[in-house]
Formats: sequence, structure tokens, C-alpha cells
Amino acid sequence: MAKVTVIGAGNVGATVANAVAHTGCVSDLVLIDIKEGLSEGKAIDMMQTAKLYGFDCRIKGVTNDYAATADSDVIVVTSGIPRKPGMTREELIGVNAGIVNTVVKNASAYSPNAIFIIIANPMDTMTYLTYKTSGKPKNQVLGMGGQLDSSRFTYYISQALNAAPSDVEGIVIGGHGDTTMIPLISKATYKCAPVEKLVSKEVADKIVADTMVGGATLTKLLGTSAWYAPGAAAATMVKSIILDQKKVFPCCVALEGEYGKNDICIGVPAVIGKNGVEKVVELELTAAEKEAFDKSAEAVNKTNSVLKEMGLVK
Ligand code: LAC
Repeated sequence: MAKVTVIGAGNVGATVANAVAHTGCVSDLVLIDIKEGLSEGKAIDMMQTAKLYGFDCRIKGVTNDYAATADSDVIVVTSGIPRKPGMTREELIGVNAGIVNTVVKNASAYSPNAIFIIIANPMDTMTYLTYKTSGKPKNQVLGMGGQLDSSRFTYYISQALNAAPSDVEGIVIGGHGDTTMIPLISKATYKCAPVEKLVSKEVADKIVADTMVGGATLTKLLGTSAWYAPGAAAATMVKSIILDQKKVFPCCVALEGEYGKNDICIGVPAVIGKNGVEKVVELELTAAEKEAFDKSAEAVNKTNSVLKEMGLVK
């Protein structure tokens, strides 16, 4: 018996809900949106696939009715506007900070013990906002970025090697931004072989560069932000929490001294289980990676400072 709420029934929210229903580990799923009929319609459409796919999750769509979300174990926040071609994720802060602030307050009131997974952009700053304003312990607030970026990283590696994506391991840390994410090419492997030994320096550099603008590339093609991989990435995090799988995923978490950082939410590998973030995994970084992480944290802090200017965070 597990209950999950997805806030926002747009492309990303609906895909998160669909992917979560397919994990088979959730009995009740609530999709909530401000737009009349949108979540109701998407929920019924998904429920009409239940017989076909053979899942038994009850999906309910509601308009602004937070009472329906009561006692959720996990709440995924996708609400807000997505970026358009040419926009950075950071440019969304003015609109999305207010929305995230409101929905987190509304949802927390009905599910005081829920673990929040933030997807709304700029994701690291929206996770920080949630952490600072919800009064929740740091283990109960995490952001979905690193898991998605890492999946894009392994995609580009698999393309370069003409290999199966599932045979590739790769991890992206740092902020979830076009210039702040850090694909750790030194640690990427293909069936235990270091990727750096399998491709030229030029190809390795291109894999890293393509990964960093992976989201922007799709935004340009689609005219809006991507949804399949974000939905799938969030579902793996929900599943690890609900089933207490204790999987290590790169995700955005509050740091208290780890990686030499404090008072920030940023992407690092963490053990994800029934308590949310159960442990931050401290990787050994090269000097260049450490420098990149420091720069990334600086950029995230700069975006976070806008929250103070907006009066949302002290
Ligand atoms: C992306 C959005 C979800 O990277 O940030 O596709």
C-alpha cells in the first residue's frame, strides 16, 4: 500500500504518473493540476491502459483538490512552466518559485510525512526552496536532475560505442543546468572498461558537451521541455523509496559539509530508500572535477540568491 501524488498534469507530470503506475509498487496515485479536467482526463486515459498493461494502480485525477492527496508517501512536483527553445532553466525562476512554494505548502498540509521529489526548474533552486520553506528534514526533500542527466550521458556514450545503453555506466553530478552539470567521464564504464580508453579525446569531449545540453537539444526539437526520460527517471526514484531499494542515484540533495558544501541543494550520488535520502555518497573527484563542482555550486548559489530577493527564503 503506497500512495504517490504527482503535482502538475502536463507532459512531464503525466509521464511521471504513467511511469510510476507501471512500476507496480504503488496502489494509489493522484494526479493534480490547476487546469479543470486535465488531470481527470489523463488519469482516466491511463486507467484505461491498466487492463492492457496489467497494472492495478488506482489513478485519480483532481483539479486543485489537495484533500485527495492526503497521506501520500511520495509527492512529485512538476508544476510550473517548462522552458521554450533558447531559454535556460534558470530563467524560469520568477514564475516557478511562486508556484512551487504554493503547491508544496498545500501538499505538505495534507501529507506531513511525505518525501518530496522536485522536478520543476530551475530544479536545484526549487529543491532548495522546498527544503528551506517546508520545514522538512533534509532526507525528505530531493530533486530529480542527476538521474535524468546520467541517463542522457549513458545514451550518448552508448551511441558513440554502438553499445547497449544498459551496458554503460555513467554519472552526472553538479547542478541541473546547461553549464553547471558535470558528466564524470573519468568514471564512465562500458562493461567495466573505462570509456576514456575506448574513445578518442575528441569523442569523449563531444559526449560530455552533448550531455550538458541534452535537455536544450530536445527543447529545440520539441518546442518544449522533454518528458519521457524525465518521467522514467523520477519513477526510478519513487520506486527506490517505496520499495526501500537503497539504490544509489545522482540526485539533488541538501549538503551539510559533504563535498565541502553547506546550505545548498545540488546533484551528488545518494542512497535512496524508504527514508528518502539515506546517505550522500562522496566520490573521489579529480582536481578538475572538484574545480568544476565548486564552480557549479557557485552558479547554483547565485540562482538561489534570487529566492532571497523575492522574499521567499531568508
Ligand atoms: C529536462 C528538464 C526536465 O532536462 O529539466 O528535460
